[in-house]
Amino acid sequence: MAIQSVGVIGAGQMGNGIAHVFAVAGFDVLLTDISQDALDKAVSLIDRNLERQVSREKISASDKKAAMDRLSTTLKLSDLGRTDLVIEAATERETVKQAIFEDLVPHLKPETILTSNTSSISITRLASRTDRPEKFMGFHFMNPVPVMQLVELIRGIATDEATYSALLDVVGKLGKTAASAEDFPAFIVNRILMPMINEAVYTLYEGVGSVQSIDSAMKLGTNHPMGPLELADFIGLDTCLAIMNVLHDGLADTKYRPCPLLTKYVEAGWLGRKTGRGFYDYRGETPVPTR
Ligand code: CAA
Repeated sequence: MAIQSVGVIGAGQMGNGIAHVFAVAGFDVLLTDISQDALDKAVSLIDRNLERQVSREKISASDKKAAMDRLSTTLKLSDLGRTDLVIEAATERETVKQAIFEDLVPHLKPETILTSNTSSISITRLASRTDRPEKFMGFHFMNPVPVMQLVELIRGIATDEATYSALLDVVGKLGKTAASAEDFPAFIVNRILMPMINEAVYTLYEGVGSVQSIDSAMKLGTNHPMGPLELADFIGLDTCLAIMNVLHDGLADTKYRPCPLLTKYVEAGWLGRKTGRGFYDYRGETPVPTR
């Protein structure tokens, strides 16, 4: 089946980036959220990010207009029933995702491929709660989606070959590169990245280095574009903690225990850039370390 229309569930950080790249690549995109305000904000952010690409001559002004014309929004989840491919990018909580799939599934065409942008939850378990485990896959984009080259493709135990090759083809059309991962907690990127971020938080917690020295050490010492604490703020400390918990619970190894300082920041509601404060305070002109 040729995939032409794509439904994206969730207009947050990941959902709006996913809608952006599909619209640029020529797919018809229908973006949904439970809040009209979130949809409006996502559309204006996509417009701004497309404008940034026009000003850097990555795309033309007419490409931008065509992409915006291919993008539409709805508050009704059932409207996504007519699309060929659905990508769920809602909150990283299993109960939320399962409730969405339960509401959506009765409206889907039989041939629609259903995917989740989950960064860590079991694809096999999510798939088992739908009517189409063979047409269900993990489709994991990296943030910021318009810039990052990688997409992780994760097959559940029941995913069929036709679904996998259809998504591989879609990744090619987006101009991105796929890496296939088996369905184990946090897949590849987060299995490696999150313990590194968690270790950076332990390094801070134990007083080995300050926020600034830890980030400088990793940026200048290992050529990472962002230091681990800056990157944690960029991803969201709640997401980092949720992924550490999935690793800890799923692999039952104490090496994945979340740092108590990470938990404390999340309890404070200091979730990083999105709340204005995390390991850095973003409320002024330049970010200031909070420890
Ligand atoms: N939309 C479109 N373009 C964007 C963009 C967006 N949202 N954000 C940045 N860009 C573009 C800029 O226009 C710029 O383009 P040019 O190269 O053509 O000039 C380019 O990206 C670089 O941006 P900036 O110059 O503004 O800033 P920078 O050089 O500091 O780079 C960054 C910003 C790309 C985010 C870089 O710091 C980086 O790569 N950081 C690491 C990001 C990372 O590791 N992401 C993965 C997180 S893990 C994940 O996502 C998985 C998970 O499940 C948690």
